[in-house]
Amino acid sequence: MTASERTRKLAARLREQISHHDHHYYVLDDPEIPDAEYDRLFRQLQDLEAKYEDLYSPDSPTQRVGGKAQTEFTSVTHGIAMLSLDNAFREEQVDSFNQRVLDRLEETGPISYAVEPKLDGTAISIRYEAGRLAVAATRGDGRTGEDVTHNVRTIGAVPMILKGSGYPQVLEVRGEVFMPIRGFEEFNARAREQGEKPFANPRNAAAGSLRQLDPKIAASRPLSIFVYGVGVVDGGSLPQRHSETLAALSEFGFRVCPENSVVEGAEGCLGYYQAIGQRREELSYEIDGVVYKVDEYGQQQKLGFVSRAPRWALAHKYPAQEELTKVLDVDWQVGRTGAVTPVARLEPVVVGGVTVSNATLHNMDELERKDVRIGDTVVVRRAGDVIPEVVSVMAKRRRKGARRVRLPGKCPVCKSAVSRPEGEAVARCSGGLYCSAQRKEALKHFVSRKALDIEGLGSKLIDQLVDSKIVRTPADLFDSKCVNTDSLAALERMAQKSAENLMAAIEVSRKTTLARFLYAVGIREVGEATAENLANYFGDIGTLREASADIETLQKVPDVGPVVAEHIQTFFAQPHNVEVIEKLLGDDALTLKEGAPRQSDNADKAFLGKTFVLTGTLSGITRDAAKGEIRKRGGKVTGSISKKTDFLVFGEKPGSKLEKAQNLGITTLDEQAFLALL
Ligand code: IVH
Repeated sequence: MTASERTRKLAARLREQISHHDHHYYVLDDPEIPDAEYDRLFRQLQDLEAKYEDLYSPDSPTQRVGGKAQTEFTSVTHGIAMLSLDNAFREEQVDSFNQRVLDRLEETGPISYAVEPKLDGTAISIRYEAGRLAVAATRGDGRTGEDVTHNVRTIGAVPMILKGSGYPQVLEVRGEVFMPIRGFEEFNARAREQGEKPFANPRNAAAGSLRQLDPKIAASRPLSIFVYGVGVVDGGSLPQRHSETLAALSEFGFRVCPENSVVEGAEGCLGYYQAIGQRREELSYEIDGVVYKVDEYGQQQKLGFVSRAPRWALAHKYPAQEELTKVLDVDWQVGRTGAVTPVARLEPVVVGGVTVSNATLHNMDELERKDVRIGDTVVVRRAGDVIPEVVSVMAKRRRKGARRVRLPGKCPVCKSAVSRPEGEAVARCSGGLYCSAQRKEALKHFVSRKALDIEGLGSKLIDQLVDSKIVRTPADLFDSKCVNTDSLAALERMAQKSAENLMAAIEVSRKTTLARFLYAVGIREVGEATAENLANYFGDIGTLREASADIETLQKVPDVGPVVAEHIQTFFAQPHNVEVIEKLLGDDALTLKEGAPRQSDNADKAFLGKTFVLTGTLSGITRDAAKGEIRKRGGKVTGSISKKTDFLVFGEKPGSKLEKAQNLGITTLDEQAFLALL
C-alpha cells in the first residue's frame, strides 16, 4: 500500500520525535519520557512502515535494529589514516613532551591542551554524507579497516541523521565505542548464568560486538560511544581548535565525553591526570589514561607526525587494571542461596593501586574453562568497585607441580552435601538455613541498603550475632528477647552507645514497603525491580503467597518469566520461609506500606487518569479482563471515541473507530502494544 500525505507526515513526525528522544536518552543521558511511552512511539512507526512499503527509509530509527546479517566484512580505506598515540607513564615524560612542543613551535608561553580521558574501547570512524550516516569502519591497521556500519547503526548514541544544519557535507567523526561497566557486568552475569563464555573485559566486549556479521548481536549489547575527533571534512568547515570542534560535534548530536577540558601547560595536564585519576573508579566506563592534545589546529599542523603518532598528542597512562600473580590456593565461599564459589588466594599484587590477595573464580564452569590450577601464574583484573577476578591462566608458565582444583563434596562451613546438578555452572550447599554461612549471607542481604536498610548493622556484626547464636533468622532481629541493648553491648567492639544507636536503627527499619520486604527476604533472582513489580501487582503478601501456587498467575507480573516464577513458588513452598515471614509480619515486628501502585511507575503513569476505548476482537485477553486491568491502574474505559480519548486499543477487525482515532491524532495501540504496556 502507498501512504497518504497525512500518513507520510505522521511517519516523519514520529521519526523526529524518536530521534529527539534517542538523543536525550543515549547522548544526554537525560530521558524526557518514560520507556513505555517511547516504546509506543517506536511501535507506532514500525506499524506504519510495515503497512506502507513506500515509507521505508534507511535513516529511520526503526532501521537501527532491522539490518540483515552480512556474509563477510568488506574493507574500507580510511581517507585520513587513523593514528595511534605515544604513551607516557611518568610525570617527567609529560614534561619532556610539553618541552618538545614548545621547542618545535618556538613558543615560550604556555600551550593550551585539550585534555580527555583515554577511553578503553575500540576505535571507530563514522562517515556522514549530507548529514546522514553512510559508513562506519574499524581502525584496522590504521589505513584500512572493516565495514561495521550494520553494527554501529544499532548503537543508540550514534545519530543516524545529524542535528541542525551547520555540519560539513562530508564529515568523518572518530571516536571510541565502549561498553559501560554496568552493562558489561550485567552481560557477563547473564552469560555465566546461561553457561556461556563471559568477556574478559569491557574492551573485548565492545570490540567483539562490532566484529559480528549479524547486527542483532550488537543490537542486544549495551554499547555506547564518545567521539574525540574528526577525519575527512569536506564541503564545510569546523572551528580552529580541537576543543571547539568537540563542542560543534556535540551540537550535531554526537556524544562527547563530559570530562573533556582545556588546560595550560604541563602543569595543567598533570593536574588533570590526577583529578581524573581520583575519579577513575566513579566513572561509568573504563579508561586507561588521559590524552593531552595541543588545542590549536594551526599548532597541530606545524607539529605534524612521527611514524604513526602525532607529535601534538600524548596518552598518559594510569596503573594497569590487570596484573600477573600466582595462585597459592583455592578456597570455597558459601553465598546466601548456598552457591559454593571458588575463590583464588593469590600472592598479593598491586592492581590499579590496590593490593589484591583474593580473586573470584565465579563458578566451577569458569574454573574448568579457564583451567586454573593451584601454583599457576594468572592474570588478575580489578576495575572500579567490582570484585577482583582471575581472567586467564598463563599456560606457558605452568610448572609441573600445578594442582587441579576439585569441588568439595561437603560444605566447608556446615558439612552438608554439596551438589552440582548436571549442566549447571553453580554448585550448592544443601544445608539451607542450617548452614551458618547461608544464614549470615541471608541476614546481610536482609539488612542491606536496598532491603531493610538497617544502618550500622555491618557484615562483621552479623557474623558475631550468628556465631554467638543471638540471631538465627531475620525475625530474631526484631525480637527483644534476642536483640536488645544488653545483648548487643556484649559483642566485640560494641559499646553501650553504639548498641543504643543500632537499636534505634532497627526501630526505624520496622516501617518499610512491601517491595523492600520482598527484595529483603531473598527469593532467588528477585531483585529490586522484580520485587517492585510483584508488590505493585499483588498489593499485599497474602495475595502473592496465594498466587504462588500458580506459576501462570505469577508470570502475569512484568519481568517474571518461568524461572523466576518457579523460584517464587519454591520459596513460598518452604515452611521455614513462611514461618519467618509470619513472625516478621504477624507479631507486628514490621509494618508494610502495602497496596497502592506507585505513582512513579512508568506503566501506571501511562494509565493513570487516561481514557481508553477498546475496539475489535482481542485474542490474548478478554474484553472484560482488559477493562479490569486498565481500571486497576487508574485508567477509565469509555465506549466511543472523542477528543477526550487518550488511547484506542484495537484488535482484529477494528472497524471505523480506528480510522476516527487516527484522524483525531489519538494514540492507537494494537493488542501486542497494549499487553506490553500492561
Ligand atoms: S585520539 C591522532 N583521543 O587510543 C589521535 N584516542 O592509541 C588518535 N583513544 O586508537 C586518537 N580515547 O582508540 C584519542 N580521547 C581519545 C581517546 C583515544 C581512547 C584510543 C583510540 C586510539 C588509541 C590511540
